[in-house]
Amino acid sequence: MTTTEPFDYNLINAQLIALTKDEPDMLANSANFVALLYDALTDINWVGIYVLRNGELVLGPFQGKPACVHIPVGQGVCGTVAQSIKTLRVDNVNEFAGHIACDIASNSEIVVPLLRDGELLGVLDIDSPSLARFSDSDQQGIEKLCRSFEQLFADDSDWL
Ligand code: SME
Repeated sequence: MTTTEPFDYNLINAQLIALTKDEPDMLANSANFVALLYDALTDINWVGIYVLRNGELVLGPFQGKPACVHIPVGQGVCGTVAQSIKTLRVDNVNEFAGHIACDIASNSEIVVPLLRDGELLGVLDIDSPSLARFSDSDQQGIEKLCRSFEQLFADDSDWL
């Protein structure tokens, strides 16, 4: 099913702020962020965060089927985003050279870098069983949520 109404990302943003208010633990906040998205978005099968750790992406909090744990920077959609620090929207993952298939149900994907002071913290990855699930307006909304999420990191806070 494809949504025709524009999705209300502002509402999700308000919920994210309410859920994380006064909570300094970024592991807990990350878990709630992905759970919120998984619950709110339609037509998706996986939402999760890959954390940059020792120069590679490592699976963090997620919702969906078990996924690959280690992704080298520069590989797959997530690793490409970690390298370029630019959002990637892939309308058909089967046409993306080097795509790492964790769930064969996934057909399109959006990956957004998560930054603090311009430095990569990790990436947010959302997969859909539909082709071209993510529009420009989804990208804008999801990027805005990621900017909100980044604000939760204090100067010295980490994922654990
Ligand atoms: N497809 C991703 C790997 C992560 S899974 O989608 C959960 C990629 O190519 O980087």
